Amino acid sequence: MSSTSNETTAALAELDRLESEGLTAFETLATIPDWEAARVVFLGLKQGRLKVAQEALKTLPGPDRKTYGQRFNAVKTALEVACETAKTKLDQSVVKTAVIGEDLTVPGTARGFGRRHPLTQTSEELIDIFGRMGFELARGPEIEDTFHNFEALNIPADHPAREPLDNFYLTPKTLLRSQTSTVQIRVMEATKPPIRVVALGRVYRPDAVDATHSFMFHQIEGLYVDRGVTMANLKSTLRQFAKSYLGQDVTVRFRPSFFPFTEPSVEVDMMWDSSGRWVEMGGAGMVDPNVLRAVGYDPDEVSGFAFGLGIERLCMRRHGIDDIRPFYQNDVRFLSQF
Ligand code: FA5
Repeated sequence: MSSTSNETTAALAELDRLESEGLTAFETLATIPDWEAARVVFLGLKQGRLKVAQEALKTLPGPDRKTYGQRFNAVKTALEVACETAKTKLDQSVVKTAVIGEDLTVPGTARGFGRRHPLTQTSEELIDIFGRMGFELARGPEIEDTFHNFEALNIPADHPAREPLDNFYLTPKTLLRSQTSTVQIRVMEATKPPIRVVALGRVYRPDAVDATHSFMFHQIEGLYVDRGVTMANLKSTLRQFAKSYLGQDVTVRFRPSFFPFTEPSVEVDMMWDSSGRWVEMGGAGMVDPNVLRAVGYDPDEVSGFAFGLGIERLCMRRHGIDDIRPFYQNDVRFLSQF
């Protein structure tokens, strides 16, 4: 450097400073706006420090220009490379933190999805099947009066079905309904035939709990009242329903039975499995003329059928569940299978 002028020595020292400050600046950037600002300061085409250093060349004595020019080109290349490298690094970190998180190789966390309870899913499917058969949805209260739970269903005051030990009475005149047949009465009181409805919901009985009995369970009630409704309509409707919900190969049988509000009455069984075991799915029958009269219908004009099926047992048969209790135990290992 001894052959260069003082002026040139100072200009070369300025190039060194420019290089080291520029490299440090590009290495320590945290954000894209910081990078943009540094780029303007060092590499800006009008006022950038590199541009100023380039202009300085013209003021140096002729013989020194080659030395200065070579050093200038080296600094320029170093800063341009540092600038590009910094930009690439910042772009990558933005993509990583904004879109994916920090480490693409960390295994994902499984999310537990909630689902509807199997009895809710079953109820929705039953509503759908009967809906396609022309049945509308009706509703009734779970807290009932003794008139709708008993009297209107032809169950007089001295009938054993009204025993306090066989029902959940709240007061002498109100109870938790023991069957969805209460809704039949409420619908007939409120409408004129033709009627084709289903009503689903909880019912309560102080039954001993075992594999097929619970003290609270669900029933689906069906009611069809019109001119000329027959037992044949009842049987074909229930068979068609059973095939639709339980599969074409299901076997259903009707056993003569007794209910105070239907005449004749039947109990409906479904073949449970290949062992040939029958399980009762519900009760049904032709609406008793006394019931029709009590709601103001003329039994010589219209007739009807009604049925009440246990929703738990239908769901159990469909999914091969042998015990009713898991429906109410809230065990996710059971519930998550549906
Ligand atoms: C009745 O409840 C009548 N209301 C059915 C009916 C409706 C007959 C309309 C005529 C006309 P039953 O008590 O049999 O009938 O009950 C009907 C179904 O509910 C049973 O077949 C069974 O599937 C279900 N069930 C009865 N008790 C329980 C219980 N404790 N736990 C679970 N399911 C039950």
